[in-house]
Amino acid sequence: MEILNVKNLTMKFGSLAAVDDVSLSVRKGEIIGLIGPNGAGKTTFFNCLTGYLTPQNGAVQFDGHPITGMRPNRICRFGLARTFQIVQVFREMATWENVIVGAFCRTANSAEAYRETMEILKFTGLYEKKDSLVGNLTIADHKRLEISKALATKPHLLMLDEAMAGLNATETIEAIELIKKIRDRGITLIVVEHVMEVIMSISEKVVVFDSGKKIAEDTPEKIVKNPRVIEAYLGGPYHA
Ligand SMILES: Nc1ncnc2c1ncn2[C@@H]1O[C@H](COP(=O)(O)OP(=O)(O)O)[C@@H](O)[C@H]1O
Ligand SMILES: [Mg+2]
Repeated sequence: MEILNVKNLTMKFGSLAAVDDVSLSVRKGEIIGLIGPNGAGKTTFFNCLTGYLTPQNGAVQFDGHPITGMRPNRICRFGLARTFQIVQVFREMATWENVIVGAFCRTANSAEAYRETMEILKFTGLYEKKDSLVGNLTIADHKRLEISKALATKPHLLMLDEAMAGLNATETIEAIELIKKIRDRGITLIVVEHVMEVIMSISEKVVVFDSGKKIAEDTPEKIVKNPRVIEAYLGGPYHA
């Protein structure tokens, strides 16, 4: 069953089409990998879907609701959440306080929001650091916190924008495990990531952007052999 349907989405900045006539259908429960060179339009695509930008053209349906042009808070309540490539945290607040902000999107009851916040912190592995000031957390913890905040809004579809950038090998493996655990909870994911091994190991389907256009959409096995994708993004190492 389809959870997201994007039709002919176009977002222009002046004369630059950062997202250029992109259509995409995502099924419930899938993990979609979204790849492409820097400036390909991946973040702009997320910004359009989540209401941070209003596209000039196109239509987005989420869970059967037309959400094009809606404000971010309304879209979030429909169950579409995202993380930010540049983490957006409240540095002067404790870890748990950052997460409970997300939980208040679903409930006005503080006890319930607190309970859910603790559950999420255990799930994402941040529970031990729940009282730490966010300004003191490591990069890997910041990335987990970004995911925790989004999970607190109880999304049906979660979009991760380079949630693993800057992580070392061990942290990357842990992040992959977390993404799989999120999927196992029934949450659909769209994952923007540059490390191909990560994309290959988690995605059912990979979508490739280049200069705002969707240039390919296929299984990971076929994507790495696609000449257009190799030319635009993967380059030499994947020729073999
Ligand atoms: N707010 C903005 N104003 C003007 N140009 C922008 C803005 N946001 C992104 N762009 C441009 O749109 C293109 C796509 O950017 P972006 O979506 O960030 O790509 P990606 O996330 O794939 O690296 C780039 O050329 C970028 O400079
Ligand atoms: Mg980006």
